[in-house]
Amino acid sequence: MKMDLKPRFDFALTLVQEAGALALGYFNDLESLTVQSKGLQDMASEADLNTELRIKARLAEAFPEDAFFGEETGAMAIVPGQGVWVVDPIDGTQPFLSGLSSWCVSIAFVLDGVLQFGTVFAPVRGELFAGGRGFPATLNGKPVKRHPGRSLREGLVATGYSPRVSGAQFLGPFTGLLEQGGMFFRDGSGALNLAYVAAGRFLGYMEPHINSWDCLGAIAVIEAAGLRVNDFLVGEGLHKGGPIVAGVPEVFPELMRLNGFQAER
Ligand code: IPD
Ligand code: CA
Ligand code: CA
Repeated sequence: MKMDLKPRFDFALTLVQEAGALALGYFNDLESLTVQSKGLQDMASEADLNTELRIKARLAEAFPEDAFFGEETGAMAIVPGQGVWVVDPIDGTQPFLSGLSSWCVSIAFVLDGVLQFGTVFAPVRGELFAGGRGFPATLNGKPVKRHPGRSLREGLVATGYSPRVSGAQFLGPFTGLLEQGGMFFRDGSGALNLAYVAAGRFLGYMEPHINSWDCLGAIAVIEAAGLRVNDFLVGEGLHKGGPIVAGVPEVFPELMRLNGFQAER
């Protein structure tokens, strides 16, 4: 039987805002958080875990037949035909812990290896991005408008970095970007900066390695907006992550080339 996505999409819209409110409570009382290092430049606090646990519990209650995959608690086994919720409870943990506003909650839904919908909520900035297959790309309920730029000279390309790749691997594409008159932007949340591509604030986004929980929520919105993204879920994208390139159709092929992908039309 075909799965009805609409109740799930509607539930995700409410849930991402509930989770955002919970995380915002921690953000407003940062001094009392216990921060732990998960690795180099990779921090987390009880805000990350507790927000994920809330999302997981709500989903288990509402859709017990679905699987769950979150950054903090990991992946459940997924059987064929079963949907999986892919969740980053706080994307932009370093901005969050630094008292900066560039962080968000990201929730995506994947069925049979295909991204169905996603939503990204930035509580401090009061912005909710959503979209998917059969669901329009919206920002706070209004249709998004693409970036008007047609070349790299006409806007910003956002990026992200984690020590999962070397510095050289990260820097490689930037020579070409700058030589073509482009400009980079980073404020520490891949999910949010990808959502900004959908919302017309950036020409594109590129990062040599990102995890599925970081990006799937926003990729769904980018795709719903009719913009381009590399085939992130191909191979082991869901469980191991991979490179991400997204953008308006006119600059996307060049961003792909700069990032070492074979020419794509
Ligand atoms: C990170 C952020 C960052 C991106 C990294 C992610 P986190 O997620 O999205 O912008 O460059 O690849 O790991 O640790 O803030 O949840
Ligand atoms: Ca993340
Ligand atoms: Ca996170």
